[in-house]
Amino acid sequence: MSFKLTWYGHATLGLETSGFTVLVDPYFSGNPSASTSADKVKADFILVSHGHGDHIGDTVSIAKRTGALVISINEIAVWLSKQGVKAHGQHLGGGYKHPFGYLKLTLALHGSALPDGSYGGNPSGFLLTTNEGKKIYFAQDTGLFGDMKLIGEEGIDLALLPIGDNFTMGPDDALRAVELLQPKHVIPIHYNTWGLIEQDPNAWSKRVVAETSAQVHVLKPGESFSLG
Ligand code: NI
Ligand code: MN
Repeated sequence: MSFKLTWYGHATLGLETSGFTVLVDPYFSGNPSASTSADKVKADFILVSHGHGDHIGDTVSIAKRTGALVISINEIAVWLSKQGVKAHGQHLGGGYKHPFGYLKLTLALHGSALPDGSYGGNPSGFLLTTNEGKKIYFAQDTGLFGDMKLIGEEGIDLALLPIGDNFTMGPDDALRAVELLQPKHVIPIHYNTWGLIEQDPNAWSKRVVAETSAQVHVLKPGESFSLG
């Protein structure tokens, strides 16, 4: 198996690949849809897309408990290092070969203030090439942008796309994102955590399946998707 990806609700994801557990935007405490908790979850690595509380979430406590290395934009990596967390800073467009795969930081149209008001640099998405060569694009919080076409040119096996609207792409723009990215598989994220981002993922799935060649997997919090 190349990887197993679990959705913990909101934009919180857990990836198992090459024997490592990689958490993405670990927001458990205060997340009404989280299916597990910050004191139980495993992590070897943690990816943080931006500084907002619903993404940096429980990063500090999980990293300190597990000893996980946190990978983020450099400004956030420096902020975490000052709190005694092991962190690896990258920047937009830059990739690095980590033990779990080659990770590149991608553009995101969003903000990134940290919980204490510190400057968090640019927000990012992630493009991971697993050690078996599968490509996973974690868009995380972003509006639609035309350069998703460039990301799609790499050949995406799985894309995680926000559909909640208000803070990120909504269903219409997320459908346009699928057209630009042309992923084989899509999982919608960042919806139904709160009333402000309430959406019908099954209705969105039907539109994507009708209008693109992507397969959509609507998960319940705690459910997983595997790709061989
Ligand atoms: Ni955000
Ligand atoms: Mn968010």
